[in-house]
This record gives sequence, structure tokens and C-alpha cells, in this order.
Amino acid sequence: MIIAIDGPAASGKGTLAKRLAAHYGLRHLDTGVIYRAVAYALMSRGADLKDEASAVSAAKSLDPRTFDDPALKSHQVGTAASVVSAIPAVRAALVEFQRQFASQPPGAVLDGRDIGTVICPNADVKIFVVADPKIRAERRTIEARGRGEAADEATILADILARDERDQNRPVAPLKPASDAYLLDNSHLDIEGGVRAAIDIVEAVRAGRREV
Ligand code: DC
Repeated sequence: MIIAIDGPAASGKGTLAKRLAAHYGLRHLDTGVIYRAVAYALMSRGADLKDEASAVSAAKSLDPRTFDDPALKSHQVGTAASVVSAIPAVRAALVEFQRQFASQPPGAVLDGRDIGTVICPNADVKIFVVADPKIRAERRTIEARGRGEAADEATILADILARDERDQNRPVAPLKPASDAYLLDNSHLDIEGGVRAAIDIVEAVRAGRREV
């Protein structure tokens, strides 16, 4: 089974994806980490985030062993990832890795922006997670402070809105729900509530029900 979880920054889709993967015994790939790793490689060598040749070369030489690096989690790297991910040639260089990951048995949960629309258009279940931007900013601020980063909620909210705008309006693989995705509004759900709602969707789809 392949489950595609898409949604905007800080919607909680990553935690949901991880929990769904554990629940169903599937592998999990946080595809945002891939774009973060490309951005971080450029930042580390002082390269311009819009330099296509450097970005493509970083994308082609990614080492998945670096995906656990805590430096990739910062808000700043997330914003930089949004910039490099708008370069079509960077996206093209990363498609195969993601599809390969998804195709290995016993299946996988992938979370990102274009999983249901571009990477795995035939996913068995597609969920598009949304949450109120103010609530997402609040959650991101708490997370960033938890990591010891100085975080101002108003700045984070402005960044999140700018990031949504860039991710939704780029010409290639923009952030949008697939036509057959189920919407999950995570604004007023805690982690357990979100996980239950996502499992309910998966079970309903597996049971062949059309309406969830
Ligand atoms: O989910 P995240 O915050 O880790 O993602 C960081 C950025 O990477 C996001 O703003 C846009 C980009 N991204 C993408 O374009 N496509 C994906 N499948 C995942 C992330």
C-alpha cells in the first residue's frame, strides 16, 4: 500500500505520516527533508539558492545518510528549501529517488507537497492535510523554541504564508490537493486525534467506501 500525505508547511503532516507508517508497518519518507538537504548543502558552501547548476548538482549527489542531521530541521532551512524546490530541474533530479522508495515492498507513506499529484499519482490513499496558518505558526514556534532557536511567532507566521504562496504558485508540481485526495483539517485536532482521523480515512478507502 502507498499512502500519499501532502499539505502546507507545519500542517502536522509529517507526524501523521510517521504514525501511519508505524501503524500499517510501512516505510516512511519525509520528502521535505530531501529539499532541505539540497538547500542546506548550498547554504553550507555559501552558494546562491537560485543557482540552478549548483542546486542540481547538490540534488544529484544527495546522501540519504545525512537526512537525520538535526540542522535540516530549522525554520531557516525550511524556507531555503522552498526556494530551491521551485527550480524545475531540481525537482526532476529527485523524482526517481522518491518513486524508487515508494515502490519497495511492503509499501510506504510519503509526505510532501506533490506526492499525490506527481510522485505517486496512483497512491492507494491520498490525504491532504490543512490547518489554520495561525495555529501552524504557533506550533512551529513552540517546536523551534524546543530546539533552542530564538523564534518570533509573527515572523514565523509571515514566513509560513510566504512559503505557502511560493509552494502553491510555482509552475512545476505546485502544492495542491490531488482531485482524489481526502481533506483532513488538523487545526483543532491533537496528535492522537489527527492520527485517528487519518486511520479512519485509510480504513474507509480500504473498505471501498467512497464518502469519508
Ligand atoms: O515539509 P517541509 O517543511 O520539510 O518542506 C520544506 C520545503 O520543501 C517546502 O516549503 C517545499 C519543499 N517541498 C517540495 O517542494 N516538495 C515536497 N514533496 C516536499 C517539500
